Formats: sequence, structure tokens, C-alpha cells
Amino acid sequence: MAHDIGRTDLGDHSGFTTRAVRAGQQRSQFHETSEYLALTSGYTFATAAENAGTFAGEVEHYNYSRVDNPTTTMLCDRLAALDGAEAAWPVASGMAAIFYTVLALTRSGSRIVSSRELFGSTVGLFTLMEERFGVHVDYVAATDMREWERALSTPAALVFCETPSNPVMRLVDLAGVSALAHQAGALMVVDNTFATPVLQQPLRFGADVITYSTTKLMDGQGRTVGGAILGTESFIIDQVKPWTRCTGPTMSPFTAWTVLKGLETLPLRVQAQSNSARQIAQALEQHPNVEQVLHPDLPSHPQYDLAQQQMEGGGQMLSIVVSGGTQGAHAFLDRLSLIDISNNLGDTKSLAVHCATTTHHSLTPEEREVAGIPDGLVRLSIGLEDVHDLLDDITQALA
Ligand SMILES: Cc1ncc(COP(=O)(O)O)c(C=O)c1O
Repeated sequence: MAHDIGRTDLGDHSGFTTRAVRAGQQRSQFHETSEYLALTSGYTFATAAENAGTFAGEVEHYNYSRVDNPTTTMLCDRLAALDGAEAAWPVASGMAAIFYTVLALTRSGSRIVSSRELFGSTVGLFTLMEERFGVHVDYVAATDMREWERALSTPAALVFCETPSNPVMRLVDLAGVSALAHQAGALMVVDNTFATPVLQQPLRFGADVITYSTTKLMDGQGRTVGGAILGTESFIIDQVKPWTRCTGPTMSPFTAWTVLKGLETLPLRVQAQSNSARQIAQALEQHPNVEQVLHPDLPSHPQYDLAQQQMEGGGQMLSIVVSGGTQGAHAFLDRLSLIDISNNLGDTKSLAVHCATTTHHSLTPEEREVAGIPDGLVRLSIGLEDVHDLLDDITQALA
């Protein structure tokens, strides 16, 4: 977005980690090294005409922080640079990012085709949209191209998926499903929260819109709740911004500043956490009390080849199915002494959760079965602790 206050020009320095540290930075008249935090709700104008000009769209000047703010602009420019998107828009949470994307792309009677394997609140949102606003949602199995083909043989407004999915780590073939979405006249929307642009860049495979919960790896240290929508400039300005301007799901400048600082270390953290998750997944595959390990880097993952094609690493999330169903899973969690029980994820601290009784408790047992979430499933978000300490903690808790 415009409003230059001293934009950093990266020139030819376009490496991913360089962009993570510097893209989008604008310096104030004080030439600070760190991104500055514009903790202000309003802005002042030299003249009444200048003020009026911002309302008429003729003067480039921040106008009100419900609409935009210098620190959130820096975050958006950095996020767009990391995914190769034209533009990004900040919102108050990952769920707000999905909701405003759906609002921008649908109207009463519109059809959404979505993978079935989704974060629980996303299913809740789609159900509300169906019940209250007459949007129709058809679900397909994330991994089944024939189901995608069938569902997208008739027109749709929006195709939605999460890949890898929460918590069963199923993948969607981004190139294949994006092509089918376009044939059906739909935009392809990907919730890329688990992979982040470090491990997967959906626009490179034909997707049109990306949503993030910045709450997770982008903040990375469990401090703030936020979200972002990425897409073309016209999608963001003409279709998303009118909704957010009038309804106010604004990301606070402080959250944007925290996430900007988080992005600087995102490549390092994600690679390190993803490597630890792979090591733990490999070790747990041999454990007698673990019935199944789900991680895209394991050759036993049913979509290992697809993971190799569209991801740069399987990520820091892994799920295990422990023996003994819900009781076994709760006993395992209660015995953990280093890893915390928490339904959050993407922190430097390792976290574990029993999905059937928390994140996915609103699904019926039948819906959980269809979504592939057995009662013994525990989701682990691997942090930055020493991997040997983590393995020791998990194995003593499984004993
Ligand atoms: C894949 C995925 N998408 C979206 C969300 C929602 O994010 P937020 O909690 O920031 O609204 C979550 C939260 O766990 C998630 O795991």
C-alpha cells in the first residue's frame, strides 16, 4: 500500500530470509533500526482540505486506524513479499481472515467446495454461513482427486482447503485442485497456517488467495492473536477492504509489530522446529504404544510424494494416535512434564492437545470418524527445545 514514510528499498536483495527481515520496513524521521510501532488510532492533517482529500480518495494519508495504520502496512507488505502476493490485509485473527475471505467471495446462493479436513471453527463458520446466509458448502475428501473433480464439474464461487490439515496432516494437491477450481469459475483459497511461506507457497501452485492465522508460527512465541489475507491488489482493495472498513475486524498495531518481529526469525524457527518434528515422528513410529504417527516427512505418510513436490519440509506439527483411546490420550498428556497441554500451536514451547475433546469436540463421533480423528489422537506442536529433551518427555509419558 502507499503512504511512504521512508520505505526501505531492497534493490536486488530479494532472498527469502532478507525479505523476512527487511521487506516492507518504513522508517520514520528518526531512522530507527527496528520497525516503529504506530500506536495511534487517529492522524492529524495540515489543512481541512487535506483531511477532506483522504475521504475523497485524492490524498494519500493515513486516516483512521480501523482502516489502516503504518505498522500494519509494514506487516502486510512483508507478508505479501514472502508469499509473492500483490497485496495482503491484516485482520484480528485467523478466523477473521477466513470469514472475510468468504464474505468477499460469496453471496446468498453461492457455492463453496471445501476439503472436509478442516480446523473445527472453520467447519463452524461454514455451518453458520449455510444456516444464516444461504451459502451452500460441499465437502470433499482432501486427498481424493476424483471427489474434487466431481464436485468441481459444476460452478462454484470459492474452493477452500487447509494443507497440511489440522490435525490429521492430510495434504491437498494444490496445483491439481487450483486448476479444477479455475475451470469451475472459483477462486482457490488456501489456509497456509501450518506450513507458512517458509515451507509452502500456494500461489506458486496456482492458488489465488491465502489466509493465515498469524497467532501461530508467524508470531511464533504465543503472544498475540491475529490473521491476514493475501491475494491480488484488486481482490484486497476492491473486495476485502470494503468489508473490513465497514465492520472493523482490525489487527492492532501492537499485534502487527509483534508479528513483524516474529517474521524476522520465521525461516530459522520453522526449519528448526520442522526438523525436530521429523526426528520425533521417526522415533515414535517404532514405539509400541503409538498406533500411528502422522507427519508429511515420513515415507509412511500416504501423500509423502506430494509433500516432497509442494513443500520444503513437513512442518512442526505432528499427530500421534496413542493406545487406549481418549483415556490413553488423557493419561499421556497428564504425564508430560516438559511439553505443555495447550490447544494453541506454533509456539517456541512444545504443546500437546487431545483433539477429540478440545479443538474438534463440536464434531459428532461420526463426523470425527469421517475427518479421520480417532479418540486416541494427540496433536503435538513441536517447539525449539532440545529435541532429546522432547523425546525423553514423550517416551516417559508413553511408558
Ligand atoms: C489451520 C488453522 N487455521 C485457522 C485457525 C484460526 O486461527 P485464530 O485462532 O488466529 O483465529 C487455526 C487455529 O488454531 C488453525 O489451526
